[in-house]
Amino acid sequence: MLALASGACAEPTSTPPPSAELVAFVDTNPATDIVEVELVAEPATHEFLLGKPAEVWAFRDAAAEDSLATIPGPLLEAKLGDRVIVHFENRLPEGTTIHWHGLRVPNAADGTPVSQMIVPPGGRYDYEFVVVDAGMYWYHPHVNGDVQVERGLYAPIVIHGGVEPDVAADRVFVLDDVKVEADGALSTVTQFLDIMLGRQGNVVLVNGVANPTITSAAGSRERWRFVNAANGRYFNLELPEDRRFLVIGWDGGLLPEPYETQTLLIVPGERYDVLVELDAEPGDELALRTIFYDRGHDIPDTGPRDIVTITIDGEGPTPAALPESWAEVTEIPFDANTPRRAFVLREVEAEGDEAEPTFTINDEAYPDSTPIFGSPGDIEIWEIDNQSEMDHPFHLHGMSFQVLDAAGASVPRLGWKDTLNVPQDQTMRFVVQFGGEGNWMYHCHILEHAERGMMGELMIE
Ligand code: C2O
Ligand code: CU
Ligand code: CU
Repeated sequence: MLALASGACAEPTSTPPPSAELVAFVDTNPATDIVEVELVAEPATHEFLLGKPAEVWAFRDAAAEDSLATIPGPLLEAKLGDRVIVHFENRLPEGTTIHWHGLRVPNAADGTPVSQMIVPPGGRYDYEFVVVDAGMYWYHPHVNGDVQVERGLYAPIVIHGGVEPDVAADRVFVLDDVKVEADGALSTVTQFLDIMLGRQGNVVLVNGVANPTITSAAGSRERWRFVNAANGRYFNLELPEDRRFLVIGWDGGLLPEPYETQTLLIVPGERYDVLVELDAEPGDELALRTIFYDRGHDIPDTGPRDIVTITIDGEGPTPAALPESWAEVTEIPFDANTPRRAFVLREVEAEGDEAEPTFTINDEAYPDSTPIFGSPGDIEIWEIDNQSEMDHPFHLHGMSFQVLDAAGASVPRLGWKDTLNVPQDQTMRFVVQFGGEGNWMYHCHILEHAERGMMGELMIE
């Protein structure tokens, strides 16, 4: 890697443009229905600013020859029904775990400190599960999460299966941002707002790169899968000139009925699977950008920000007709007698100069909180009542749910979610059917909030 000693040196003109290509794991198992990989978490360097390497923590595929740790980490790809075996080794200076966000895995593979022993430095843990849902997921540590994920430990998962629309390209965009000093290093200063809003960076990243360029064919249709891996940034995506996103999937896989939207809000932890039609001329350049979204606490509108540059090159194939039917999603049945559970989200200002704010669920700050209990197959309605001045993305481990309210929009849509934005001063409800036995966490996915109390435990037994 290129290491320039000081900012005084001119950047070499020969530096290749940063690439947003993701690298998939080497599958070490010849069986066609087993994906077996070797994952290491370790200190590494990454250039958020060109020519100015930062010290980061990152994932590496230990089975790939001469592999380097990358941000994001290696893409985990499998198909519906595959058995996935991940041999994990922790080479970080502190303990960690790996959580498979959104995948319905057995509790022992969920990768939280309530479902396994924390993997100490130098330690190993084998994760094993069968994939039961197609779609886009991601993996990240679940110990000291606001720090470990921010330093670069996150990576996408794509599970293939089900309806596959005809597209010219199928792309994964992992969204993040980092707070970087002038010398390229990750900032270690944590200010009040970094905690309040979740750390928002000055450099926005797509697949680890600031404003990467992709090349697309004129008139073609592409599939873009997004995951927001940022600690706190809300992405509100838009394409120029009224181009729309056709949303075909959410967190837990394809929707029964796709819908169009002009802006696509993606909160921390969420995933969206969309189709875009690139009607433009060869030679055109389009910017995918993120625009202001009022997430609370009077944050100012800092204007739109380009996050991906799309270069249109050559004529593409005319898109084929879209599939007539998409996913089958069975509605979880409920009625007036279905048990309801209320969760009140609050922010508690710190008293005293040095103290940090806490974030509570039902006025308790995890780990000093009361677990809730249920049995496999139970159906409940959860009401998340946000009594704070900012939005919180609520995430539940181990099972997906169906949302019963549509914040701002007209009607709730049917589909599977595991991460749901609960706007400031609003209540959002969802219906959930409990999955397998074990201790499952639920929490705000602004990781600074989760690590400061806004987390809880659901014990299914
Ligand atoms: Cu992606 Cu418990 O989180
Ligand atoms: Cu999760
Ligand atoms: Cu929060």
